[in-house]
Amino acid sequence: MSLPEVNCPYDIPEPYCWDSSFEVFYANLDEEHKGLFQGVFALTDKSKDINTSLSTLQTKVVDHFTDEEAMMEKAGYANVTEHKKIHADFVAILSPLSGSDVNDKVIKYAKEWLVEHIKTTDFKYKTKL
Ligand SMILES: [Fe+2]
Ligand SMILES: [Fe+2]
Repeated sequence: MSLPEVNCPYDIPEPYCWDSSFEVFYANLDEEHKGLFQGVFALTDKSKDINTSLSTLQTKVVDHFTDEEAMMEKAGYANVTEHKKIHADFVAILSPLSGSDVNDKVIKYAKEWLVEHIKTTDFKYKTKL
């Protein structure tokens, strides 16, 4: 499996947890973003079943994108088409994975993608929804 290179100019939190530098100031979206960090972090937890952790993350990602896209559409947000395409490209990589595909490269990709996406792409809708 080949993963795209993420050009992430931001620090990756270690341990991998949401912090206030990721705030978009919409309470439901900030809660969902926290859940996505937890979901990626869970992939690194060897005490958990990887198939369960991965499918939990896959569901959380799709649910979050659905909510975020609905808010952007409701607000008539200008960049919604471009933003939805970025979501769809990530889902196209994440959703076909099964637990046995999860390795350090996949975890690094997911960590970097989420950090880069929130700070570069999600931040553009701050105050606009
Ligand atoms: Fe987004
Ligand atoms: Fe988001």
